[in-house]
Amino acid sequence: MALADTLHDFSAMALATVALALLLVFLITRFSSNQKRSSEYLPLPVVPGLPLIGNLLQLKEKKPHLTFTKWADRYGPVYSIRTGASSMVVLNSTDVVKEAMVTRFSSISTRKLSNALKILTSDKCMVATSDYNEFHKMVKRYILTGMLGANAQALGIDVESSIYVEGLGTRLSREEIFDVLVMEPMVGAIEVDWRDFFPYLRWVPNKSVEMKIQRMDMRREAVIQALFREHKKQITSGEEIEYCYLSFLLSEAKTLTEKQLKMLIWETIIEASDTTLVVTEWAMYELAKNPAPQNFLYQEIKKVCGLDKIREEHLSQLPYLGAVFHETMRRHSPVPVIPLRYAHEDTQLGGYHIPAGSEIAINLYACNMDKKQWDDPEEWKPERFLDSKYDPMDLYKTMAFGGGKRVCAGSLQAMLISCTAIGRFIQEFEWKLKEGEEANVRTVSLTNRKLHPMQAIIKPRV
Ligand code: HEM
Repeated sequence: MALADTLHDFSAMALATVALALLLVFLITRFSSNQKRSSEYLPLPVVPGLPLIGNLLQLKEKKPHLTFTKWADRYGPVYSIRTGASSMVVLNSTDVVKEAMVTRFSSISTRKLSNALKILTSDKCMVATSDYNEFHKMVKRYILTGMLGANAQALGIDVESSIYVEGLGTRLSREEIFDVLVMEPMVGAIEVDWRDFFPYLRWVPNKSVEMKIQRMDMRREAVIQALFREHKKQITSGEEIEYCYLSFLLSEAKTLTEKQLKMLIWETIIEASDTTLVVTEWAMYELAKNPAPQNFLYQEIKKVCGLDKIREEHLSQLPYLGAVFHETMRRHSPVPVIPLRYAHEDTQLGGYHIPAGSEIAINLYACNMDKKQWDDPEEWKPERFLDSKYDPMDLYKTMAFGGGKRVCAGSLQAMLISCTAIGRFIQEFEWKLKEGEEANVRTVSLTNRKLHPMQAIIKPRV
């Protein structure tokens, strides 16, 4: 019995020793492979900042693309900054941006929203702000199939002068509707709530910002509701309604809630109006400033369209017009910094280790002003897109529409609308900048919009 007990104890001890040895081997291997993993990467350059707030003060002018580009000259194309308690990795070169958008997409496909954006987007209830998941795939498919062509519209009604908005108890004009649906939320989207930078202080009330954004949200909802009512009124009165995205969604997307429907309609309005307008205005500014390219474009249009008004079908025969569009997208990108992405797991970019939890800022402005990639990047030269090294059909050369699985859903539509508008303006008038306008290049808001609208002298063509 004593011998059996001894043998039993001995085999238990042996087993325990083997298990311990295996555990040690496992831990050592893990540890050494981790050691190897972190030593494989270069240390990520860090832009020095202040304790606690990091680099926030250096970004206070709300033109992050310019500050990021300045830092890239000093710290290289990939570096890290601190925005309060969060760390943000900033990407400033085409190679590394493509790596983020395509190769490492699965690790950085999600969005982290500010408090203001959470309210304005009903917490990721839109294509652009949702994480990359089944909802995203479904609603992106809806936009891609339901909003086609230059004549695509969100709603099949045209607000001629004004509509009654019951939720606000008043009538609003077209301009006021544009303000509520586009201008106010654009301002709200960059509203700074300091709690975004210090999530551990989220419990501290910040009523003034919250109330401002909630008011915008309430006004936006009331206007969309009024537009929906007009749309329904027109249908029930038997009036013929033009094909529109709302009719498409009502017939195809039965699983959407009323709230989702409103957000998806609003999304197409806000994403299409400002950006398309911004690029068209900058193209006209450059053409009015540069008579030779303007004349070249006029001659091209005249040759292809003759006395006809330029239409969508002509665009494929107008390479110089395409080049004007792409060069304007490069030089005056309407979205200079892509809405922040978020690394939800450890990954790598440009040979650096990127820890899970980092926010990722993609600075398209720096990519498009990179001297290594573009000759004289400050110059606006459409002919660079006619060079054989650029494929004129390549929409995504400047990445101004993003890239990979989250590429802009309206790129083709934006191009059709903007090119047709530029073409019509040039067909009808000769453009010249008003004196002093050359220096009028200050921008405002998220989308590079001109602070002061362009002023030009136009002369009808004979
Ligand atoms: C010149 C005009 C436009 C520019 C410069 C532009 C630019 C962009 C950019 C940079 C992104 C982010 C892509 C990314 O995260 O990688 C984006 C996303 C998006 N854009 Fe546009 N856009 C324009 C017009 C439009 C129009 C007309 C629509 C039409 C409805 C639209 C709908 C969207 C949507 C739905 C997304 C989200 C895509 C996703 O997350 O999968 N955009 N756009």
